[in-house]
Amino acid sequence: MAKKNKLGISAQALGRLMNAAAVAREGAVAPYSKFRVGAAVLTKAGEIVSGANVESASYGLTCCAERVALFNALTSGKRNFVAVAVVARAEGGPMPCGACRQLLAEYASDAKVFVADSRRLKVVKQFSVGELLPGAFLDFRPA
Ligand code: THU
Repeated sequence: MAKKNKLGISAQALGRLMNAAAVAREGAVAPYSKFRVGAAVLTKAGEIVSGANVESASYGLTCCAERVALFNALTSGKRNFVAVAVVARAEGGPMPCGACRQLLAEYASDAKVFVADSRRLKVVKQFSVGELLPGAFLDFRPA
């Protein structure tokens, strides 16, 4: 079995995931902010699915890299996400926005989230989804 470090996944798997997010970032469509973000999700089965942010002239329609990657994975039938990587040219790495945290809480609650500056992919910060969004809204059934 591959060696796991304190990050919870093998160094090799983490390297593949961070690289996939960095490659996906190249596909970002960010003509307004110019802030290009790449994301990738890793399934328990070892599959990686990625995405990048896409912006709209109607700014609010913009979709973050995390959601593009997650939607891409979900609509390809993937489940059981164990890790998510998010990469941008940002000191310390980009922190997922509130909307993405909500979607992660719903569809990737057990995943570790790794963020890194695209210039230093090996310097990662790690978060649990629960840390990023404590007390997530998950149940809309009336009491
Ligand atoms: N963005 C992401 O794609 N992910 C994040 O974690 C933070 C923000 C995008 C949305 C928008 O296209 C640009 O970054 C600036 O907010």
